[in-house]
Amino acid sequence: MANIGVIGTGYVGLTTAACFAELGHKVIGVDIDLAKIEVLSSGKSTIYEEGMSELIVKNLANNNLAFKGSIEAISNCEFIFLCVPTPQDADGSADLSYVIKASKDLNLVLKKDSVLITKSTVPVNAWKDVVKALNRSDVAVVSNPEFLREGSAIGDFFNPDRIVVGCTSIEKAKQVAELYKQPEIQTIITDNSSAELIKYASNSFLAIKLSYVNEIAALCESVGANAKDVLFGMGQDSRIGNRFLEPGPGWGGSCFPKDIRALRVTAEDNAINMSLLSAALDSNEKTHRRIVDKVEKELENSLIGKTICIWGLAFKANTDDYRESPALSVIERLIGRGAYVVAFDPVITHIDNKKIKIVKSIEESCDSADAILVLTEWEEFKKVNPDSVKDLVKNKVVIDSRNILDKKLWVKCGFNFVGNGWQ
Ligand code: UDX
Repeated sequence: MANIGVIGTGYVGLTTAACFAELGHKVIGVDIDLAKIEVLSSGKSTIYEEGMSELIVKNLANNNLAFKGSIEAISNCEFIFLCVPTPQDADGSADLSYVIKASKDLNLVLKKDSVLITKSTVPVNAWKDVVKALNRSDVAVVSNPEFLREGSAIGDFFNPDRIVVGCTSIEKAKQVAELYKQPEIQTIITDNSSAELIKYASNSFLAIKLSYVNEIAALCESVGANAKDVLFGMGQDSRIGNRFLEPGPGWGGSCFPKDIRALRVTAEDNAINMSLLSAALDSNEKTHRRIVDKVEKELENSLIGKTICIWGLAFKANTDDYRESPALSVIERLIGRGAYVVAFDPVITHIDNKKIKIVKSIEESCDSADAILVLTEWEEFKKVNPDSVKDLVKNKVVIDSRNILDKKLWVKCGFNFVGNGWQ
């Protein structure tokens, strides 16, 4: 059992704090947002993540977990995880100001010979800035990027594909890896810079993979092939892997877009032209346009004055996050071409965009719609019986950009069904 401090209780910090407490460590989560600390201390999760509230309540009760509003609270901890935001700067680079400020503040707080661990997504060599800002030769700085996904954060923490730790001291790196109590999980012990880069390289590679998947879907549509079979066939090659091969309206969220842009800046700063990164971003925009073209094509090539029923606003299912959501990029373009948009999302009920009418039910969203467009792969949409909405829509057209609906069922109810990469 170790005394662990977690600085920053956002998505990464809260998951890290609650899961380490669940492993039996004594954990203190610290945040400058006192209102958030109050909510967390009352046992409520501040993120939409299945199982998080239960984990918090259980570990508050057994005193493995506590939340505090001041950084001094972790002065007795041996291991301190930095989980503060690294938002995107205007030029696309990662803003390190929160990381640097927290490191400076910890100079006077940290216990002798404690270990400071960066878990925030930081650009390569940021650890050198942390060492400088912390200015404590007795404190080791370890880089330990996380790979958890929104919507499956707890499962990803306890079942990671690998644990990555980087440090100038192998011994300190091992100590951090042991905190996870998962000796069976592959642990990569490396230097700080390599550990930092593994995160960006992985996220950017996944984004490139998805851009390629969506381009294959586009090609399948024009040559009359079936993207479901083509991508399945591809994925059986273990060198390619059979995950992250689902076509969609594009990729988004709080990580992929930000990380691929930040890596591009790092590469440019080092005179390395990583053209694939820009290509993946451009291709993603193309996919947004392609989905809108598909809708327009089904409605006599004009969206002017048409009402489009949108299913899904979140950037993916099982989250309330719409940051850089592909759904919003597609919606913006639909509106730009003269369409009206009526949207339903199982968890997102408000967005600061007056042009998007958000309604409270599937039925309401279908009312007088010229077409239904599926943009997020929520389980709820898979279960919709087309019979229950066929008399609500003005036009029986359904475009499924996530390939989650049962085509036979929709066609049987008289809908003109349009899939993504297959027909
Ligand atoms: C991602 C990484 O997966 C995770 O390891 C890292 O720690 C944080 O960033 P997340 O942002 O939660 O996680 O999203 P992810 O599940 O990776 O999905 C990213 C985007 O790709 C979403 O828009 C999703 O809808 C899309 N996607 C994913 C597809 O379109 N098809 C797929 O097959 C998989």
